[in-house]
Amino acid sequence: MAMGHSARPRAILTQKTAEAEMLRWGLLRMSGLFRKKPVGYDDSEFGMKRVLSALDLTLLGVGAIIGTGIFVLTGVAAATQSGPAVVLSFVVAGFACGFAALSYAELAASVGGVGSAYGYSYAAFGELIAWIIAWDLILEYGVSVAAVANGWSGYFNNALTAIGFGLPEQLTKGPFAGGIVNLPAFGIVFVLMVLLIIGVRETARINAAMVAVKLATIAIFLAVGLFNIHPSNWTPFIPFGWFEHTADGKPVGILAGASLVFFAYVGFDAVSTAVEEARDPQRDVPRGLIGSLLFCTIIYIIVSGVLTGIVPYTELNVSSPVAFALQKIGFNWASALVAAGVIAGLSTVMLVLYYALTRIITGVSRDGLLPPYFAVVNEKTQTPVRTTVITGLIIAVMSGFIPLGILAELVNIGTLAAFVLVCAGVIALRYTHPDLPRPFKTPGGIVLPVLGILSCGALIGFLPFETHLRFIVWLALGLVIYFGYSIRHSRLAVA
Ligand code: ALA
Repeated sequence: MAMGHSARPRAILTQKTAEAEMLRWGLLRMSGLFRKKPVGYDDSEFGMKRVLSALDLTLLGVGAIIGTGIFVLTGVAAATQSGPAVVLSFVVAGFACGFAALSYAELAASVGGVGSAYGYSYAAFGELIAWIIAWDLILEYGVSVAAVANGWSGYFNNALTAIGFGLPEQLTKGPFAGGIVNLPAFGIVFVLMVLLIIGVRETARINAAMVAVKLATIAIFLAVGLFNIHPSNWTPFIPFGWFEHTADGKPVGILAGASLVFFAYVGFDAVSTAVEEARDPQRDVPRGLIGSLLFCTIIYIIVSGVLTGIVPYTELNVSSPVAFALQKIGFNWASALVAAGVIAGLSTVMLVLYYALTRIITGVSRDGLLPPYFAVVNEKTQTPVRTTVITGLIIAVMSGFIPLGILAELVNIGTLAAFVLVCAGVIALRYTHPDLPRPFKTPGGIVLPVLGILSCGALIGFLPFETHLRFIVWLALGLVIYFGYSIRHSRLAVA
């Protein structure tokens, strides 16, 4: 197994030293639902180059985070759930993510494991929890590609309309929103599928360029918007209260808004998937996670404040609210630039999420928890073509036919559930393995992970009842797969 060089080599171990370590910390049991991989175990076939700095990791996070959440859902949440107080919804969701990010950082630094919460939960908490987290992550990444494609489609179609080639409404909305199919959303997923099949991978350099495009887009919006604020648009500030229900039972208010705009933060955990490529993972992955989250929170608060300041919140329930607002106040050139920036910026968000999805599935399949069919890498392209095509077809159908709000809420519930497990995992390990080396330790004992569980759990509670039902069905399906297949085919079971 080839190894990259590391300033702190503890993260990547050979099989032998990993086993020694695992025995030392008592984190290995080879049978039953709680069988574990060794801490720091590296089962990647090829060592990756350790090139990413803390700044690269922060940019990676920002590249994956800023997308449909801020450019589309801010408008939806302001118009239907929070009013101008959508700013507070972002603050609430930002706190919940902050607690979870600290827990992620502690696990990524101390437990290691390759790639995201799945990798280190396998080492730390055992197979069943790892599978549930993987199943949540598949939901998070898969459905979020569909959701972002939906947001992308709104801006793309506006751009087409601006140059006189607008599509008829039936082809820009799915059947639940009064149309037939969201054709641009459907189409972009196919384009991404082809790119991933031929092996186009986000590199740190492309990512940095796209982050620059997105930040320039936001800068243009703020430069124009800041001088066109009418403070009267901020009253009433809290038109829907903190947490109420409409006559038809739909939750509204700042907290319900928080559980929707939480989507804007989805993706920061992508930083933890770069553990193998970080120069000094124990130090830089926590910095990248927390840095990117902090940066995006500040941007979101400012953008949502300005957006609701320039246009009455009641008018923002449109498919491209940021471009719409600029157009509304007479800045067509700025609106066109912003639309172009969003179209480019969201493409990379989708690429990162789709890429991560295929790699999680191939990883889980290599571990035997899903059939080996999904782990097959095509000889010619060197990419997992089958997994890319199958997931792409499912994502394309979802994005073409299901409305953005439903998709986003489904992503959120899956992600929030994974965050709850991650926070719980930190607490469990503090008690079961108090002496485990923790290069990054969440300050304040277990207070912050407990707050993480409570706040993420509360955001789950603020989501609509239908979303809870859909998620329960997803979890049940996951358990059926685990007990029907994975438990017997796991690599640890047959080892
Ligand atoms: N956070 C990402 C977005 O808002 C998924 O598009």
